[in-house]
Amino acid sequence: MSSPLQNIAPARGKLGVLLVGLGAVATTTIAGVCAIRKGLALPIGSLTQMGTIRLGKRTEGRSPKIKDFVPLAELNDLVFGGWDIFEDDCYAAARTAGVLDREQLEQVRGELEAIRPMPAVFDQRYVKRLDGPNVKKGKNKRDLAEQLIADIRAFKNKYGCDRLVMVWTGSTEVFMKESGVHATVASFEKGLEQSDDAIPSSMIYAYAALREGIAFANAAPNLTADVPAMLEMAARNKSPLSGNDMKTGQTLIKTIIAPGLKARLLGVRGWYSTNILGNRDGEVLDDPESFKTKEESKKSALDYIFQPHLYPDLYKDLCHVVRINYYPPRGDNKEGWDNIDLIGWLGYPMQLKINFLCRDSILAAPIVLDSALFLDLAKRAGMSGIQEWLSFYYKAPMHAPEVYPEHDLFIQLMKLKNTLRHMMGEELITHLGREYYD
Ligand SMILES: NC(=O)c1ccc[n+]([C@@H]2O[C@H](COP(=O)([O-])OP(=O)(O)OC[C@H]3O[C@@H](n4cnc5c(N)ncnc54)[C@H](O)[C@@H]3O)[C@@H](O)[C@H]2O)c1
Repeated sequence: MSSPLQNIAPARGKLGVLLVGLGAVATTTIAGVCAIRKGLALPIGSLTQMGTIRLGKRTEGRSPKIKDFVPLAELNDLVFGGWDIFEDDCYAAARTAGVLDREQLEQVRGELEAIRPMPAVFDQRYVKRLDGPNVKKGKNKRDLAEQLIADIRAFKNKYGCDRLVMVWTGSTEVFMKESGVHATVASFEKGLEQSDDAIPSSMIYAYAALREGIAFANAAPNLTADVPAMLEMAARNKSPLSGNDMKTGQTLIKTIIAPGLKARLLGVRGWYSTNILGNRDGEVLDDPESFKTKEESKKSALDYIFQPHLYPDLYKDLCHVVRINYYPPRGDNKEGWDNIDLIGWLGYPMQLKINFLCRDSILAAPIVLDSALFLDLAKRAGMSGIQEWLSFYYKAPMHAPEVYPEHDLFIQLMKLKNTLRHMMGEELITHLGREYYD
């Protein structure tokens, strides 16, 4: 099967990965890549590094690793950089985050110490629980955007990067809705000039990336790049986009369990989810305005998976509650509890309890890596705008306005793998399988 996307530019030279916010997730990603490059650890959880893809019929026995099938950047060719409101280098920031063992960090200390954050674009109005010294000053938001663009260009020159990708790994900003200023690039640029309140810091970074034709991913639930002005800019400069909010702990489990219950037509009356979390992310989410952004993102998955409009007897009026409690002793080692009230045959009630003792940033790091590598691939394949095939990684996947987002993890994975097959001119796999029996 031929494909218009077969002319993928090779992954030649270095890929600069710019992370906005060098906190727990970002430093765990960078330290992990450094350790993996040295052969000290395995990239567990990363589809780009460990995943395989079946090609052709089951009888053909072709299942290469994804990284041997599509031309991805090599880990050795990645160069990390970024911004933060704190001046700590990546080693100090990783120590503060407390995710990785001290011993493990020592093994990559030199590489981490060499990464120092560039001064950030930050305004406390959008992240109430944070304040730090490493912040840019500018006469208006347009000036701040220009400063970020100058940083991006300087980074690219300094490290001799062939290409760049940017991922927002910064804190969750307060809840915002799309407004007039986000409608077009023209209205957005006017808003930058006037330092419009509806433009939070994360949008200034996204604008800078997209104006430079760089791929952008949003690992947090903020509105950020999910507005028409950004889509227009992405189309104009051929930047691929993905987000929002990485699907890691409780929502990952939710999108694994819920499609299974739905497949067997088991009803659900209630789903109560609560978490304790003690890292800086937990502290930021302790602010009700930042929590609201997270809550909206976490709550949407079940509605889309269960489709209560099609199955009112099973899922109408489902009571879905999500809580996150900031509990410092737990650090990054989040604990989540889910109670699911089910109904089976003839309406008899059942319950399912899930207790997940996870590590937030350990689950998030492979997603940051995969998003960066796949977005770079998309850019080289000439694919711009929303990359729905990367929904697999997100709690609130970006999607075209006329379609609903796909939340079912298994459909998302099929979509991702079929996109890779399509890119490489391989036959898509429908799982029909009649040919084996004809
Ligand atoms: N860890 C997970 O499993 C997970 C899952 C989904 C989403 N997220 C989201 O990822 C983001 C990062 O999480 P984390 O655990 O690393 O948090 P963190 O608090 O450890 O790190 C965030 C960093 O962003 C910095 N920051 C905030 N605003 C900034 C700005 N305007 N410019 C530059 N830097 C800025 C902060 O100073 C901090 O160092 C959060 O929004 C979180 O909700 C995390």
